[in-house]
Amino acid sequence: MKQRAGAPVSLFAELDRDDGSPLYRRAYRRIREMILRGALLPGSRLPSTRSLAGDIAVSRNTVEAAFAHLEADGFITRRVGSGTFVAASLPGLLAGGERGPGRKTSKRPKATLLTRPSGNDALSSRGRIMAVAGPSADADSDATFGVCRPSLDTFPLPLWNRLAARRGRRLGDTLLDECDAAGLGDLRSAIAEYLNAARGVRCSAGQVIVVTSTQQALDLIARVLIDAHDEIMVEEPCYAGATAAFRNAGARLVPVRVDEHGLDVEHGAGISPTARLCYVTPSHQFPLGVTMTLARRLALLAWAERARAWIVEDDYDSEFRYTGHPLAALQGLDEHARVLYVGTFNKVMFPALRLAYLIVPLDLVDPFSNAREWLDGFTAAGMQAVMADFMRRGHFVQHIRRMRAIYHERRDALCAAVERHAGDRVRLGPADGGMHVVGWLPRRTDVTQLRRRVAQRDMYLRDVAVYYASRPPQPGVLLNFASATPAAIDRGVAAVSRLIG
Ligand SMILES: Cc1ncc(COP(=O)(O)O)c(C=O)c1O
Repeated sequence: MKQRAGAPVSLFAELDRDDGSPLYRRAYRRIREMILRGALLPGSRLPSTRSLAGDIAVSRNTVEAAFAHLEADGFITRRVGSGTFVAASLPGLLAGGERGPGRKTSKRPKATLLTRPSGNDALSSRGRIMAVAGPSADADSDATFGVCRPSLDTFPLPLWNRLAARRGRRLGDTLLDECDAAGLGDLRSAIAEYLNAARGVRCSAGQVIVVTSTQQALDLIARVLIDAHDEIMVEEPCYAGATAAFRNAGARLVPVRVDEHGLDVEHGAGISPTARLCYVTPSHQFPLGVTMTLARRLALLAWAERARAWIVEDDYDSEFRYTGHPLAALQGLDEHARVLYVGTFNKVMFPALRLAYLIVPLDLVDPFSNAREWLDGFTAAGMQAVMADFMRRGHFVQHIRRMRAIYHERRDALCAAVERHAGDRVRLGPADGGMHVVGWLPRRTDVTQLRRRVAQRDMYLRDVAVYYASRPPQPGVLLNFASATPAAIDRGVAAVSRLIG
């Protein structure tokens, strides 16, 4: 496949200005190196001299001179009216010594095939860890029971569009310019206010770092607080996004069992007393759905204080609780500033929003804001502003209330359908909150085969085994009830139950 013209522009921007040689020669070397490295593929089109000159801040004449030498050396061809292209048949890799512009050798080095390491060979050791496909790689987002799928057809789109349009009309300098790496002030204070009131989080707006996703928050935490080989306690089973973030940082993961009280802190402290961090989902354990008891929460905080370790509280889908009272966030019980709290709007609102938040202890605000800036600057300000308006005008709390009622009805439909169609074979896990329930299947079930067969019927079942470091206690699948109507849920459960046998 050919590269798009101008696609690798950022690579051109790395032109080295400090080696004292003429600019055209450095431009020549840079482009030639990219061709030899395979970053510019044979036959691909180069940007125009004008755009390239702009990107590397030199004159067009300089780029013209570099192109002339590259053409003379056979690296590129220029076609009047259609542009400049990397030569389809390359002169081959240079053997020894540099051949600068204008210094043609009478004897060309023997043409070698341009061999570019491919697949995993091309990757760094960190890249090899990161490039592994996650459990979402095979997910069909439209399929019934698709994991972590909110209901999109019930989202108040006209209202959102009105707020976005109003913001658009009032786009002043503040929204066009650079934004604080920690986020837009309006949104940070709306988040702090909401979390204090609704989740018992104790924080000021200054402790809020706006990010694009839970995933970015976890990645940031891993970069700022974790060294390679550090031990990290994770729940067994654990959210795959969390294990990936810590594994990518080179950490050693220590899975700690989860029972009906949540993470077994005593067990964790026994097998990893010097862990640097513990990742937990106390409100609604992902994926099992249990709520961590107050006794366990206090034990975890006490361990963190003793071990000088961090706790990362992922409060994912805590907004949706259907029975009993939700326990307030663990962060609110923390007297020693050991907890980093993570929440996301990407499921409560809609996945394409890309807004989430991280609440850090006061003395970590500057390190995290600076790290966020190095990572990718800041989160797009326009969406932050619309979200802030949505919250400030009371729509967010109202939206959660409405979605909770809708999901409650769907949760009830799922439980009733399982009881009706498969009550003798499927045991449901805790269903007090969230957007899915684990369905535990008969021991003889071949989950891989079941998943394949339901996929042919436009349904998606996630194997609970993907979240376990060891084997799950028995076969099980995640049944998402949030994104399907009660009628579709009933049909889906009936179809799955026929396949379970
Ligand atoms: C435990 C948990 N945290 C976070 C997320 C997602 O958050 P985000 O989309 O903001 O990365 C999910 C699922 O998508 C999840 O299961």
